Amino acid sequence: MAQLSYAGTMNDMSQLPVRVPVSDQGAIKAAVKRDGVVIVTDLPGDEHAPGYWEGIAGELPALCFGNSNLIPGEPPVACLHQEFARFEQLQMLQAAYGDEGAVLSKATEGELARKAEQKGLPHFTEIPWQHGLHQNPHTDGYVYGDHVPDHIFLLVEQQADTGGESFFVDGERVLERLRTGPDADSLLPLLETLVYDQTESAETGGYFQGRSSKGPLFGRRPDGRLQWKRMLGKDQLQTKEDMQAVPVPRSCWAVTPETRAMAAKIGARLAPEDVLRRVDLAIQAESENAGRVRLNKGEAVCVDNYRVLHAREAFNTGERRLWRVWTWTTSSDGRPDGDGQPVSTPLDIHLDLTAPDASP
Ligand SMILES: [Fe+2]
Repeated sequence: MAQLSYAGTMNDMSQLPVRVPVSDQGAIKAAVKRDGVVIVTDLPGDEHAPGYWEGIAGELPALCFGNSNLIPGEPPVACLHQEFARFEQLQMLQAAYGDEGAVLSKATEGELARKAEQKGLPHFTEIPWQHGLHQNPHTDGYVYGDHVPDHIFLLVEQQADTGGESFFVDGERVLERLRTGPDADSLLPLLETLVYDQTESAETGGYFQGRSSKGPLFGRRPDGRLQWKRMLGKDQLQTKEDMQAVPVPRSCWAVTPETRAMAAKIGARLAPEDVLRRVDLAIQAESENAGRVRLNKGEAVCVDNYRVLHAREAFNTGERRLWRVWTWTTSSDGRPDGDGQPVSTPLDIHLDLTAPDASP
């Protein structure tokens, strides 16, 4: 039976997700439904056992939602996010030393200098460190077009020494902000009618040529669940400028001739580009408001990827290891097979391994 103590609402001021033990499936589902995000704790098993982290990551969807609520498909784990604070340095070390370079990236400066000297190579610690930058709020899996995973899990195997706090931007709050803006009457109808191209593509700054997706920016599913997505280009997924970025990070929604024709037909009082700008500004404002939470080792965050954007702060030292799990529940639009191809799995997408912390 669900324990009432875990059924408290997300703190309205800080918007921090509640923590719920994995054994309480009812409370997990309730929190996801209410808040769009929950932190799952107290995972079973021995973390020192071989293959523990990938194994438990793969079990998370069934543990949290129950097998009968999932659309079957392999593999359960999309990838390991290994994020390095010293990314540029690591790349140099790997170029010079191959696999040994990854080990050396954790070496002390003295060890590194000695190694470089032995090999007659430059002293790699002189290379400026690339710190883990601030990551902007986004939806995961938009490469799948209309078939993004409807829930995602991020399990922390290793948290950064400092920084790396997670934060979440609830689409409901973004909408609420837009509802109370000065030109809400002109804006609101356009959010759910104007059709934009929402396909990930190199043209709009994306990593991949994703499956095609077109539609209004916000929609509501029959059960009332909000559905939207925010795609960010390569240069906007992470920013050095943090919240002060000007202009604000821009979503990859694209205005097409169809968008313009529709805007003219319905007598839109805002240009399609102005609609996009207002939504990005609202996301940015909500990003500043959102509470920050540092996930602990062994905790997993579960996000309603239809409704809530996720992001994290910069981290300054060390590295982070997160297991990313993409899940299609029976409440989703289905696992991606929209182009008539065999049912895909996340591993069908070949991620650029030279940038392990950059893929959304
Ligand atoms: Fe992500």
